[in-house]
Formats: sequence, C-alpha cells, structure tokens
Amino acid sequence: MEICDKLIIGQSPAIQKIKNLVRQVSNSDLNVLICGDSGVGKELVAQALHLGSHRKEGPFVKVNCAAIPGELLESELFGYEKGAFTGADRRKKGKFEVAHRGTMLLDEIGDMALFLQSKMLQVLQDLQFSRLGSKKDVKVDCWIMAATNQDLDVRIREGLFRQDLYYRLNIIRIFIPPLRERPEDIQPLIEHFTKHFTENTERPLFRLPAESLEFLQRYPWPGNVRELKNVVGRLMLIGDWETVKRELSDRNTTLIGREFVSSTSAPLTNGPELVQKKTFPPLKEVKKKAIREAESKLIRAVLEETGWNRKQAAKILQISYKALLYKIKEFNLDPTE
Ligand SMILES: Nc1ncnc2c1ncn2[C@@H]1O[C@H](COP(=O)(O)OP(=O)(O)OP(=O)(O)O)[C@@H](O)[C@H]1O
Ligand SMILES: [Mg+2]
Repeated sequence: MEICDKLIIGQSPAIQKIKNLVRQVSNSDLNVLICGDSGVGKELVAQALHLGSHRKEGPFVKVNCAAIPGELLESELFGYEKGAFTGADRRKKGKFEVAHRGTMLLDEIGDMALFLQSKMLQVLQDLQFSRLGSKKDVKVDCWIMAATNQDLDVRIREGLFRQDLYYRLNIIRIFIPPLRERPEDIQPLIEHFTKHFTENTERPLFRLPAESLEFLQRYPWPGNVRELKNVVGRLMLIGDWETVKRELSDRNTTLIGREFVSSTSAPLTNGPELVQKKTFPPLKEVKKKAIREAESKLIRAVLEETGWNRKQAAKILQISYKALLYKIKEFNLDPTE
C-alpha cells in the first residue's frame, strides 16, 4: 500500500482531496501551510508529505513555535556560536541545520513572535542565515512546512502575524476540516485505531456494539481525531461501551452545551442526557469581546515598548497612524487623558 493511504485514514471527500494533494505536491519542495483545529492530523499530513517525497531518507524536524519563547526559539532554529550570549558555552547547530536534506515543520506558526517572523521572511527566501554570534552564512536544503490551528487571517488583522510571511508560506495550503464535518471517517478510523492498539498484543480484535457507531458519528469531537483515538484506547481498556458513552455525553454538555443539541436537526435518540439546559452567551459576542481585549492588550504593550511613540507603534502594528489614534481613544488607553 502506498504510504499516503497507509498513514492517512478516511474516505470522506475532504480526506480524499487531501490525499490527492499530498501525492501531487510530494516532490515539489513548495512551501506548505497546513491548517485545521487541534487534533485533526496536521502533523500526520506533514509526515505523509515528507515520507512520500525524495527526502524520505532525510530528517523530519518539528519545532513547536508556541512552546518556546521568542529569543530561545531563535537560537533553537538558527543555532549559535560559543559566547553568542550568556550561557552559550559551546557552539550549537540549529534545527534548520539539523533538517538539512529533509523537512522542517514549523508547528503552531501562528504563535511565532513578530521579530522572528521578520527574520523568517528573509530566511525563507534562500534558506540562508547565520548562527547567532556568527557572521558566516549557512545554507541549508530543506522543505519548509508550517502548521497552525489558528485563523491566520484574524491574526493578521490583529497585527500579530505578518501578511508577507503568510503569503510566502501559503503556497500550497492544506486545510483539514474538523472530524465532526466528516462523519464518514469515523468508522474507518475506529477500525484503524482498534488494529493499532491490538497490534503486538495477545488481545482479540475488539468489536464495538453496533449501536455505538451512530452515537460516535454524532458526537462533535472537540478534540478531533486525537480524541477519537483516546476514546478507542479507553474503550478497549475498560471494555464497557455504556460507561464511555456516559463520559462522552458529560464531556459534551460541559464543552459545547446546547450548541451541539440545537445544531443537529434530528432528535437525539442515543443520548437524552445531552439535552441539558445550560445558558451560554452568543459566540459572536464572545468573539467580539475577545478581539477587543486582545487588540487593546497588544496596542498597550507596543505603546509602552515604544515609549508612547505613536508613529513607531503604528508602524509595528501595521496600521495607519490615524487608525491607531482612533483605537487609543476607543480603548481609553491614553494615561494622560
Ligand atoms: N486521518 C488520520 N488517519 C490516522 N490517524 C490520524 C488521522 N488524523 C489524525 N490522526 C492521529 O491523531 C493524532 C493527532 O494527529 P496530529 O498530531 O497530526 O494532529 P495535529 O493537527 O497536529 O494536532 P495539534 O494541533 O494538537 O498539534 C495522531 O495520533 C495522529 O496519528
Ligand atoms: Mg500538531
């Protein structure tokens, strides 16, 4: 079986389209941006691209841009010379050099600090850079992929992501929809994970009760395929469908509340416990409030950083001077007023 079919399980039109795209671009070396919610399989798709390419014998290096603070991430990516900064007691290769002749996955790229985004923009042009504390250029040959579970358009609008970097990364875009939008994939995924958990064990192959599939196809899977994998693992361990069903129903009412119930048109025959009345604010309202808070926080931080130099701040935020003045007023940020 071909590597792509072996790794990426699913028969929904969305997954078939993704698999075709993976096959098409596997040897292209074009920058790839993989988007989708947490747990949908972004890293898996990156691996499938790598393993289907001429780079498959080379390294696959993943760097999580959200987990490491900016300065540290810079030295992690580009490496450093001895004495480049306090604590640099020996020369260290960066991840880009480690990924030479292979693939580099910049994971959670949406969270990369702005100063590093500018640097990345230059580096992506010719894959040439220097280690921190060195003037000598290093050139690497690696395939660049990036993944994110954030809406980069929103990040760009908020001034937290550079549009030019977005264009550079977004040459091939692969969007993986959430699992709840592709219920056809649930059954093959359950079979796949059941086999996976039975492999190398003496256990007989586990069979789910017939009525469970419909329930699992309707469950909204906030944690996507990762959650499904864990649920299958748990089911096989405790072997009791009713318990797992109850757990999922509880999880669902806490996480999604009535959204799930009201968004499904057919009445739920499988879980009356899902129809619990809880009140939640409209999503639009929460979104608006969160955006305002994030905007106000960022603008304040940039103003403080620039010593309230509004022109410079507007430049950093990539908005017009006038727009910034308006926002300062709107959010009541000026301490002298
Ligand atoms: N289509 C699929 N077929 C088989 N396994 C899958 C599929 N999609 C996801 N998985 C499995 O689900 C788990 C989560 O996938 P992965 O780590 O690639 O998600 P992700 O999108 O990178 O998540 P995050 O945003 O949290 O990093 C992994 O164990 C992966 O192998
Ligand atoms: Mg991931």
